[in-house]
Amino acid sequence: MADKAKIAILISGRGSNMAAMVYAAKTPDCPFEIMLVASNDPDAPGLRLAEAESIATFAHRHKGLAREAHDEIMHDAIVQSGAEYVVLAGYMRILSDGFVRKWTNHMLNIHPSLLPKYKGLDTYQRAIDAGDRVAGCSVHLVTAELDDGPVLAQTEVAILSDDDADTLAGRILIAEHQLYPATLARYVTRENDPDWILGQVRERAMALAETHERPSFGAPGWRVGSERTGKYFAYFAQSHHGEASIALLVKTTGTDEQAALIDADPELYYSPKFYGKSGWIAIRLDTGSTDWDHITERLYKSWCQVAPRRLTKMVEIADQF
Ligand code: GRF
Repeated sequence: MADKAKIAILISGRGSNMAAMVYAAKTPDCPFEIMLVASNDPDAPGLRLAEAESIATFAHRHKGLAREAHDEIMHDAIVQSGAEYVVLAGYMRILSDGFVRKWTNHMLNIHPSLLPKYKGLDTYQRAIDAGDRVAGCSVHLVTAELDDGPVLAQTEVAILSDDDADTLAGRILIAEHQLYPATLARYVTRENDPDWILGQVRERAMALAETHERPSFGAPGWRVGSERTGKYFAYFAQSHHGEASIALLVKTTGTDEQAALIDADPELYYSPKFYGKSGWIAIRLDTGSTDWDHITERLYKSWCQVAPRRLTKMVEIADQF
């Protein structure tokens, strides 16, 4: 199994979601490990549990400190622990933009509502008062906006006719304990998920001017130009033509560049079946350490190879400024 993803958990209180993470991490094949449990409150009961489970803990009061200064102290402790992901589990602090930026796409939160409904506090009573039949919980990536950011997963929890905020909260908490570790496990292994990889390629290919997607022999492909006369600049190969790897096929300037790339990094590049002869290159996307900026650049270069002159000309002009 590949290295486990290293996690720091931030709590302010009880820490039952933290406990769910800790016990999930003990199950066989769990793809993450807990490096640190940190809190803004040295008396948070969750810290005692983490200690008992032999997990490193850290606490630093926020009182008397500017938000940025306190976040900086927490950030340093997280980095020190070796964690690559931050999991917020009842961390009752609004985070500074600087902190959020440092952990973009590497920080998750759980919120006890079906987002985008009921951001903020008092979510259970608000759901009951609204006459909702279902409430629930959401795991989302953290962005600068409170309880915003892309939702990764949700669980619906039925509201019973005699529920009050406490009974509902209790049931939602059970759902949280299931959802959070499972979602984290999926998230930290996303680079092995062909659908996630395809999504990343698609987003980048479609961001280029006048492109559209059209499958070719069952493989997703992207073309530039009109639907009628467009030309392919990229294919997504997943076990395509009997090849084992997941790869992106893009055009190079020709067989010289293709050979130079393979020479420079034979683990990453190979000459794809059928397309190799005409100077296409395959870039592996299943190494677990894809450099997505490089993929963006390669897609763009390939696009430039086949885009109509009027489009590449526009790019040349823009580049001069
Ligand atoms: C949970 O209700 C969670 O949804 C919210 O804060 C609470 C944390 O509870 N973000 P616990 O400390 O994990 O028990």
